Amino acid sequence: MINLLGMLKSEVTEMIFDSHAHYDDGAFDEDREELLGKMKENGISHIVNVGANIESTRNSIALAKKYDYIYAAAGVHPSDAAELNEDNYQELCRLMDEEKVVAVGEIGLDYYWDEPDRKIQKEWFARQLSTAKEKNKPIIIHSRDAAADTLDIIKAENSWETGGVIHCFSYSVEIAREYLNKGYYIGIGGVLTFNNAKKLKEVAEYAPLEQIVLETDCPYLAPVPNRGKRNSSLNLTYVADMLAQIKGIDRAKVEEITCENAKKLYRIV
Ligand code: NI
Repeated sequence: MINLLGMLKSEVTEMIFDSHAHYDDGAFDEDREELLGKMKENGISHIVNVGANIESTRNSIALAKKYDYIYAAAGVHPSDAAELNEDNYQELCRLMDEEKVVAVGEIGLDYYWDEPDRKIQKEWFARQLSTAKEKNKPIIIHSRDAAADTLDIIKAENSWETGGVIHCFSYSVEIAREYLNKGYYIGIGGVLTFNNAKKLKEVAEYAPLEQIVLETDCPYLAPVPNRGKRNSSLNLTYVADMLAQIKGIDRAKVEEITCENAKKLYRIV
């Protein structure tokens, strides 16, 4: 009986790594502690909480201090790039050095919202890439409707060595190949389960499983059957299921390999 219980327990103790979450978001204000308190028992072994501006970077670090299984990323999202100046950039650089900050991000270009001015987005993207290189930290890229410019800037900054992930990957197989060939990871989340995700499914099929990480981007982008609701890491099993189906392997394997991948990416031992 004890053995049987032990086996059942080990079956539910999965290792799911959420490589990109925003638990500092106001959407979690009412039940953040309760929710984060039950992650481990639900098989979520690691979460990287990602900064989108200086304040959320600070809050991400605070979460990492409070929970042993949470890590932080420090960076300013392209849509918030206008908040940066020489003074607060120094602070951001200091935050990048804090304990449990495993990456610089999310940084990049967003031409979908297209604000602030592209010149400002590009300038601070390049600047943060160069700081990540100095500090030898992997990068988390946010890139929307800006495939060519993102790649150009990464190439110009020669940011390949630090390693990185293109989070919420939304481009073609051809663009994926450029990153995969350089050892980057592809971040895949709830969108994979959407009916209209043909392009992402092609990318998921093409990319080696060893270069894919799972992510929620929560509170956004909940997978089917919870599409449209508040997302959380607890939904990652749906994404793992879909990826397992695409790869023709079982879900446990997907969870195990993507967890190892994220540990490698963020250099977590
Ligand atoms: Ni994000």
